[in-house]
Amino acid sequence: MSFASRCDRSPVWSALQQRFDAVGRSFDLRRAFADEPQRFADWSFQAPELLADLSKNRIDAETLALLLQLARDCGLESQRDAMLAGEAINHTEGRAVLHTALRAPAGQGLFTEDVQASLSAMLSYAESVRDSARSGITDVVHIGIGGSDLGPAMVVRALQSFTQPGLKLHFVSNVDGHDLAPVLRDLKPATTLFVIASKTFTTQETLANALAARSWFLAAGGSDIARHFVATSSNTAAAAEFGITTTFGFWDWVGGRYSLWSVIGLPIAIAIGAENFRALLAGAHAMDQHFAQTPLEKNLPVLLGLLDLWYRNFHGFSSRSVAPYHQGLGRLPAYLQQLEMESNGKGVDREGQVLPYATSPVVWGEAGTNGQHAYFQMLHQGTDVIPVEFIAVKRTHHGPHIQGELQERLADQQRKLLANCLAQSQALMQGKSFDEALAESAPTASKALDAATVARHRSFSGNRPSTTLVLDQLTPRSLGALIALYEHRVFVSGALWGINSFDQWGVELGKALCGQLLPRLSSGDVTGLDSSTAGLLKHLLA
Ligand code: F6P
Repeated sequence: MSFASRCDRSPVWSALQQRFDAVGRSFDLRRAFADEPQRFADWSFQAPELLADLSKNRIDAETLALLLQLARDCGLESQRDAMLAGEAINHTEGRAVLHTALRAPAGQGLFTEDVQASLSAMLSYAESVRDSARSGITDVVHIGIGGSDLGPAMVVRALQSFTQPGLKLHFVSNVDGHDLAPVLRDLKPATTLFVIASKTFTTQETLANALAARSWFLAAGGSDIARHFVATSSNTAAAAEFGITTTFGFWDWVGGRYSLWSVIGLPIAIAIGAENFRALLAGAHAMDQHFAQTPLEKNLPVLLGLLDLWYRNFHGFSSRSVAPYHQGLGRLPAYLQQLEMESNGKGVDREGQVLPYATSPVVWGEAGTNGQHAYFQMLHQGTDVIPVEFIAVKRTHHGPHIQGELQERLADQQRKLLANCLAQSQALMQGKSFDEALAESAPTASKALDAATVARHRSFSGNRPSTTLVLDQLTPRSLGALIALYEHRVFVSGALWGINSFDQWGVELGKALCGQLLPRLSSGDVTGLDSSTAGLLKHLLA
C-alpha cells in the first residue's frame, strides 16, 4: 500500500497553526455556549450504542473543517480501508491488523471460516466450563499480562452483573508473587482451571506464573494437568512443550492489545457465556461499520482522533484523563493506557524518521466519583489543562438480588452518580471568577486571611475541556462498541501522525536488560554496571 503524507506535510498543518494562534489559544467555552444556543445539538454525535457530547471542547466549526481536510490529506480513509482489507499495515513486523475480522458476522470479513471455527471451539469449551455440575470447576485463574490480561480483566469486571454466581474468575499478571500467592490461598486443584494466556508464549511473567501455578497444583494433590491447564496462544508448540494439551490458537494478525475478541477472550466467555460474548462482538462490529462507512464529519472515532491531535499538537496538552462514572469500568483507564500508549507512544514515523511533533498523550484515570476525592483538585485548579473524558451510563443493571427498598436506594445513588458526573464537566467548563468567589461566603476559610486572598484560592479558571460519552446501559453489546470506538480512535490519531500504531519495540530494551541483570541478582556481580544500578543492586542484596 502507499502511505499518504504525514500530518505536518499537509498544507493544512500551517493553516491549523494559524487557526490556533488566531482563535484556538484564546477559545473560551463559556463564550462559545453563550454565542451558540445550538452548541450541544451541533456537537453531539450518535454512534452505535452511545452518544458523544463534544460540545465542551475547545473547538469550532472552522477548526474542525481544517482537521477534516488534514485527515483527507493524510489519506485517512485509504489507510483505514487498507487495515480493514488486511494489508500488512504493521510494516515493521510484516503483519496485517485484523481484529475487526474477529467480530465480523459469520460469512463476512476476512478469514471468516477460521475465525468462526476458532470462536465456536472457544465458546463451546467456555460453556462446558460454566456448567460446573459437569466440569466441577468453581475457580478460573487466568494468567497473562498486557494485552493478554488487561482486556479480559477489564471486560469481566465491567460485565460482573452478567456473570453466573458460583464461578469465580481470578486474574494474575504480575511476575511479583504477591499477585499469585493470595489467589492460590483459597483454591483447590480439583475445582480450579488455569488458563495460560500468551500470544507468544515467551513472556517472562506469564511463564513464571504458569510454572508456579503448576507447582502449586501438583504439590496440593492435583493430578490431571491436561484437564486443569489450558492455553490461549498463537504459539501452540511452546504451549505443548510446557505440557499443555489443550491450546486455543490464534493468528499473528491479532495484535496483543487488540486480542480480547479472539480466544484471549476465553475468560470473558467463561464469565458471561457464549451468547453474551457474541453480543460483545456484535457491538464492536457495529462500531466497525460506523467507522468504515460514516462520512468523516459524523464519524465518531475520526472526530475523537482529530480532537486528540488538535489538543496534543496545537494546544500542547500532554495528558487526557478518563473518568468512567460506572464502577464496573474501573479497569478501563488501565486498559486504555496500553491501547493508546503502547500503540501511539512512538517517536519515529513509518520510515523511521524522527518526528518533529508530539504523539501519544499520557492516558490515566479512575472511576467516578472516587477520582473526585483524589486528583480532581488538580483538574480544576492545577497549572496543566487536562481534557477529561467522562463516561456516563444511563441505566443500572445490578442483578436480581437487588429488590425492594435497596433497589430504591441504589436508584437514588444512580441519580447522585449522574449528578456528580454532569457537575464535574460543568465545573471544569464554567469555573468560578475571582469576583464570584469574593461575593460568596467561605465559612471554613481561615479568619486570619483577608477576603481577597481567600477568593484567589477559591476561584477556578474554568474553560477546561471535556467530552462526555453516554451509554444507555453497560451491556456486552454497548461495551463492545465502546472498546471498538477507542481502538479506532487510536488508529485515527496514529494514522495522522504517520506512525505504526501496531508494533511495540519500546518494550524490548527493558526486557533485554532484565535478562542480563537477572543472573546478577543471584551472583551479586556488579562488574561493568553504572554506579546507580550497581549501588541499588548491592543494596537490594545486602
Ligand atoms: O508488553 C509487551 C507485550 O508484548 C504486549 O504488547 C503484549 O500484550 C504483552 O507483552 C503480552 O504478550 P504475550 O501475550 O505474548 O504474553
